[in-house]
Amino acid sequence: MSQLPTHHVFPSPADASEALASEIGDLVSRRASEGRHAVLGLATGSTPIRLYAELVRLHRQGLSFSNVITFNLDEYLGIGRDHPESYWKFMHSHLFDHIDISRENIHIPDGSISPDSLEDYCDSYERKITSTGGIDLQVLGIGRNGHIGFNEPGALPDLTTHVTELNPVTIRDAANSFGGSENVPSRAITMGVKTILEARRVVLLAFGHAKAEIVQRALTPGITTEVPATYLQLHGDSAYFLDEEAAARLD
Ligand code: PGA
Repeated sequence: MSQLPTHHVFPSPADASEALASEIGDLVSRRASEGRHAVLGLATGSTPIRLYAELVRLHRQGLSFSNVITFNLDEYLGIGRDHPESYWKFMHSHLFDHIDISRENIHIPDGSISPDSLEDYCDSYERKITSTGGIDLQVLGIGRNGHIGFNEPGALPDLTTHVTELNPVTIRDAANSFGGSENVPSRAITMGVKTILEARRVVLLAFGHAKAEIVQRALTPGITTEVPATYLQLHGDSAYFLDEEAAARLD
């Protein structure tokens, strides 16, 4: 059965980020009081930067991440952790270096895995997610082409963590940060749509005019592989947190 994700429109990206940080903070504290872990699925890109700044602020006010386990959605293939554009670097500089999470609880796909062990590596990443009891809350962004993680247009719904080719729109959008599209890796490791749909709750953040058209498309009833974000219509507890610009084309 399919149902549209709920959507919440906030006055600004800062307000949307604060709301999600507060939801995450509540989850983490509630689990801590029960003596349990909270398992977070995390995203990279410009959109969640404010969310991470807000989580760091909550940590400075006393929120502990010592019971938190994280799994990142994806990583470029063929670059190491030390590459300036690696998602490993991004996550550490925006979040992990500033909170008290245990290093062994951080999971980010390793883009430097050798080609002959990739399949095993992807399977073991997926098994690690399952062995924690599954993701409680998955944070997503959305590409202008409707991708979630690196599940690009054409992505099938039944894939778990796997290797994928980047779409031309994704490569174009990453070109600036890599100093030209010829430097953007052509492949990535990504959680699959199936992995994302297994999270107990999914919150997708989208901000700015450039996302208005794809947000409208993704929130139109009907699932299509051409817009992977429409697969969230198969999830029973997913929400879009939008600013007014990204929501501009919604009724
Ligand atoms: P952005 O990327 O946050 O940099 O817009 C989002 C995405 O591609 O998922």
